[in-house]
Amino acid sequence: MTDTGRVHATLPSGPPTPSFPRDRTCPYRPPESYDALAADGPVTRVALYNGRVVWLVTGHAEARALLTDPRVSTSRQNPDFPMVAPRTESQSTVVLPLLGVDDPEHARQRRMLIPRFGLKRVNAMRPQIQAVVDRLLDAMLDAGPGADLVPAYSLPVPSTVICSLLGVPYADHDFFESRSRRLFLARTAAASTGALDELRDYLRGLIARKEAEPGEGLLDELIAERLAEGEVDREELVMMAVLLLVAGHETTSNMISLGTYTLLEHPQELAALRADPALMPGAVEELLRFLSIADGLVRVAVEDFDLGGRTVRAGDGVMISTSVVNRDTAAYDHPEDLDVHRSARHHVAFGYGVHQCLGQNLARAELEIALTTLVRRVPTLRLAVPPGEVPVKPGDTLQGLFALPVTW
Ligand code: HEM
Repeated sequence: MTDTGRVHATLPSGPPTPSFPRDRTCPYRPPESYDALAADGPVTRVALYNGRVVWLVTGHAEARALLTDPRVSTSRQNPDFPMVAPRTESQSTVVLPLLGVDDPEHARQRRMLIPRFGLKRVNAMRPQIQAVVDRLLDAMLDAGPGADLVPAYSLPVPSTVICSLLGVPYADHDFFESRSRRLFLARTAAASTGALDELRDYLRGLIARKEAEPGEGLLDELIAERLAEGEVDREELVMMAVLLLVAGHETTSNMISLGTYTLLEHPQELAALRADPALMPGAVEELLRFLSIADGLVRVAVEDFDLGGRTVRAGDGVMISTSVVNRDTAAYDHPEDLDVHRSARHHVAFGYGVHQCLGQNLARAELEIALTTLVRRVPTLRLAVPPGEVPVKPGDTLQGLFALPVTW
């Protein structure tokens, strides 16, 4: 489904509307031109790639209010749901579990998964995550000096961990990583739909094999406890598996590589972490805030309401720029500075409200372990190319780096 050329009638017309999203020039900062968006008030207007005008929330308090407001929906089947790139049109062809459904259906799905992503279960995985990290670093150091940190470290850490958690064979990682990459980077809806179809077929086949021959992992548990009991239907489970597999590695991988680049570019903060590794949990929160890799959360209004001095009408698209929200001076002192000593926990890098990231405990554990171990074991780590030559992902997808050439 496409809404090309559509300008929603209820949004006030005025001077030309700035476009959103835009590419970052510095990989760890929002585009400079976003400053003007924030200056226009906590809720402003932006134009998407297809000309459609939507609201953009840039205020911290307003973002949290919106994300807990039941008068907005995340359903991609709502014909007014905004498309942020041609690629995202593929999402309207399937029901995306969790992220793409509203309560009460959303709450039912989330309840099934919550225990497995709780702090206790995640903490129990820490030794296993540490072992994965150590093994990958051993291999990288043996083969070096010099590596691209993305394939050597930042991608295989979360990929291996999510495979083990779900019960997906890591041997298939080239297949699912390349399809995930296409989902996030395809320039057309057809390419994105193709990648999604291949991932669905793969996980449908895996689930069928697991029904015949159960193994160990969350998918096996869901098959035994939920599918067999009729609490979840097969296609719903397949799409849950797609979402968890994709979200479970793409996001954290971008955070590890971009987090490493950002620390290398802030030697004072890196030195503070080296001197006192106990700072790392706080530093991870600060990096999540500072980098805001999921920069552009999307909603559609299903009722009229007021927000930040604006009147949002049913059918209006509403987006949240997490990078701007996480730099709101009402919420943070000197938000432009990376400060590993600050308390940044109230950031919205994981979203907020009912859809707040299900995998956040896991992501935090992976980031803490991956960054702490890298900083400790490779004290001379540095960029192998000038900072400006590190290839940065485009603005209309998860923020991150295509490659991170390093040496030591
Ligand atoms: C640093 C890494 C991560 C970041 C920055 C991140 C970011 C986010 C954000 C911003 C949302 C909310 C989206 C919205 O409200 O529209 C979200 C939701 C979600 N995330 Fe993450 N995520 C990360 C890691 C993970 C991991 C490791 C998993 C593991 C499986 C995961 C699974 C999910 C799921 C299933 C949802 C949907 C939750 C719901 O709708 O109830 N994420 N994530």
